[in-house]
Amino acid sequence: MSALPETDMQSGLVESAKRVLPGGTFGNFSNDIVIREGRGGRVWDENGKEYVDFLLGSGPMLVGHAHPAVTAAAQARIAQGTTFFANNRWGIELAEAIVRAVPCAEQVRFVSTGSEADLYAMRAARAFTRRDKILKFEGGYHGMSDYSLMSLAPRRPGNFPQPIPDSAGIPKSVRDDMVIAPFNDGDAVAALVREHRDELAGIIVEPFQRIIPPAPGFLQALRRIAQENGVPLIFDEVVTGFRLAYGGAQEYYGVVPDLCTLGKVIGGGFPLAAIAGRADIMAHFDRGKVGDDGFLMQVGTLSGNPVAAAAGLATLEVLREPGAYDRLFATGRELMGTLRDLLRRYGIAAQVTGEPPLFDVVFTDEPIRNYRSTLRGDADKMRRFNALLRERGILKGESKYYVSLAHTDDDIRHTEAAWDSALKALAA
Ligand SMILES: Cc1ncc(COP(=O)(O)O)c(C=O)c1O
Repeated sequence: MSALPETDMQSGLVESAKRVLPGGTFGNFSNDIVIREGRGGRVWDENGKEYVDFLLGSGPMLVGHAHPAVTAAAQARIAQGTTFFANNRWGIELAEAIVRAVPCAEQVRFVSTGSEADLYAMRAARAFTRRDKILKFEGGYHGMSDYSLMSLAPRRPGNFPQPIPDSAGIPKSVRDDMVIAPFNDGDAVAALVREHRDELAGIIVEPFQRIIPPAPGFLQALRRIAQENGVPLIFDEVVTGFRLAYGGAQEYYGVVPDLCTLGKVIGGGFPLAAIAGRADIMAHFDRGKVGDDGFLMQVGTLSGNPVAAAAGLATLEVLREPGAYDRLFATGRELMGTLRDLLRRYGIAAQVTGEPPLFDVVFTDEPIRNYRSTLRGDADKMRRFNALLRERGILKGESKYYVSLAHTDDDIRHTEAAWDSALKALAA
């Protein structure tokens, strides 16, 4: 044990992190907190401070931290060897579970992260169509590949369909292969697809973009436009898969894409993600089916890892329990409703946007329809609100409350009291 008193446990680690990690972080979250453990819907930092956790590891922990069934499944696998590179029973069974659950999934290829899944989904669409360009939406998050980091979060949005790189280090040439469209604008997409149809390999979209639900008819319009122009439609379901419904956003919104990507929930808190979809497109991962010319090279040391797959299977079993999604949605609905009521009571202009398992507030009096409308939100107020909540024992990402099946009535009450007190301070 360190000689530091209990209250200094965290600051020592924060200082060490600043020395050895760029920015003092793993790149994901603020460097002033170090999480020690999680159980159910709560986490504790290194000082022992307890939080109701709406960060949920950025989404994977839908059934709660250290769920006994998931822990037992992972521990059983760990004791028998943690990775083999070759096929293993748990990965095969997880692929079968995905094919049963997800409407578009005829076949599955595993990778380790959502970023990879999106990269390969775009590549599969290119291999299938033998075209190069991908249409993505401004504000759409598809991981960290060169292609995905185009107009994810431009500070000053440009003119559609011009991509704006989000990162240093991306070759200029990548811009030429991306077409950027506004989310929730079917007419704009139709015009862009018509214009680029001979070069367009695919359309990739978060069917629920960050915290923005699709406008009625938007996903149906995408489906129709993609079909009419022979362009594969890719749903990035890394967040929405097994969260909005057991069959993901495609079940929840009733629109079936040609390919989808999955991550987060399917790994049960371990690194695992997948590309899933139509067998004729997935065939490009199989040299035997498509030959050398059409073959999409894809290998990964930890792909289909048995510990991750077993944890994922155990997670899906919890989600199949009767009433699981009813409870998840009831918790989220109650939280969203209370937050709306409190904002109204304190006279704060704001929109609570999202779906019950995943939502947040944007401080603006205008409805949220796309990335540009989120930019009209008061970012400074958002930061202050999140900081006030952190002080009051609520942990969340910059912009997302991830609701867990493990959140209890007590967690809800605690959250509502923290909102009340933080909004009072914000309104003062
Ligand atoms: C919609 C979406 N796609 C892809 C990713 C990338 O997943 P990963 O962080 O596992 O690479 C994320 C991560 O948050 C995501 O939200």
